[in-house]
Amino acid sequence: MRVPFVDLAAQQAEIDDEVRRGLDDVFARTAFIGGEAVQLFEREYAEFVEVSHCIGVANGTDALELALRAVGVVPGGEVILPANTFIATAEAVSRIGAVPVLVDVDDEHLLIDPGAVERAITDRTQAIVPVHLFGQVAPLDQLMPVAEAAGVPIVEDAAQAQGARLHGRGAGSWGACAATSFYPGKNLGAAGDAGAVTTDDPQIAARVRLLGSHGSPTKYVHDVVGMNSRLDTVQAVVLRTKLARLEKWNELRVEAARRYGRLLDDVAGVRTPRTRTGSTDVWHLYVVRVSQRDRVLGELNAAGVGAAIHYPTPVHLTKAYAHLKLTAGAFPVAERAAGEILSLPLHPHISAEQQEYVVERLLSCLGI
Ligand SMILES: Cc1ncc(COP(=O)(O)O)c(C=O)c1O
Repeated sequence: MRVPFVDLAAQQAEIDDEVRRGLDDVFARTAFIGGEAVQLFEREYAEFVEVSHCIGVANGTDALELALRAVGVVPGGEVILPANTFIATAEAVSRIGAVPVLVDVDDEHLLIDPGAVERAITDRTQAIVPVHLFGQVAPLDQLMPVAEAAGVPIVEDAAQAQGARLHGRGAGSWGACAATSFYPGKNLGAAGDAGAVTTDDPQIAARVRLLGSHGSPTKYVHDVVGMNSRLDTVQAVVLRTKLARLEKWNELRVEAARRYGRLLDDVAGVRTPRTRTGSTDVWHLYVVRVSQRDRVLGELNAAGVGAAIHYPTPVHLTKAYAHLKLTAGAFPVAERAAGEILSLPLHPHISAEQQEYVVERLLSCLGI
């Protein structure tokens, strides 16, 4: 049996006719930039997140950069973010010429540690970026008072948590604004690169739109040096079609995560992920922790199980961020986790048989 890490073909089969009809319409109208589909998607995604504004952009990394610039991050400013995230969170800060200030995470959920954030705040801090890793919402309930007391805006990295909630409030609706990615493998994935910024603040929304369209409020008038980062109309068609199914697909992820839990929770030698109290996770990834992870990963892959690692190297230990001069030992929780984490295949279309096979192979690799 083969169990792919994600199954975009199964997803596409479910939506193929509708996507093709939508694309025919775009090509018939040849409205390739900012067509009707973009406006409709922005409205629908804002409703989904329960905020008043959504600005579609070219990808999640641009969304982070634009969101950070819109809340006032400038060259030389400091931005606090977790050490274990996808590199893009740090890249967005660096692209502005600001300084990523990394902090450690909590051992249970591998989410940014609010105490570490509090200790890292200085008078140069211009934003805090909690990352909603693996489909969980970062501890915004604890971070909001910390940020408010310091007068620093929160920019959520919601790329992995479309539809997740904490105490009933959705990922992407807590901070001054949030950035998200619609990279194909995300819970809501496009057919290529795409992203968005969500916010309740009309000024931040206007600033993101201005910066993402050449700093241009009207054609050939340029108020600031911006960039070209727009949501592609073709991607908007795909995203609208998938957004209509996202709640159902997220429920299927929850069911699949429960099944893994039933099969693995009591197994000594496998540390399974736990949901925080008050949190509705959307299981972008199902991340267990095991010893001898690299051997286990190799054997699983050889047995046709598309397991993976998110992420093998914390940001400060990558070559790209060697200039931060943070050596091994700087963030012990993130570093230890990087050697143990293993993402098992999980997607809306995974079958019970496939999950049972994954577990059987995993237990066999562990000698259980
Ligand atoms: C946590 C996180 N932040 C940012 C990004 C960047 O998004 P993109 O690849 O669309 O630029 C991703 C995904 O790729 C991500 O997982």
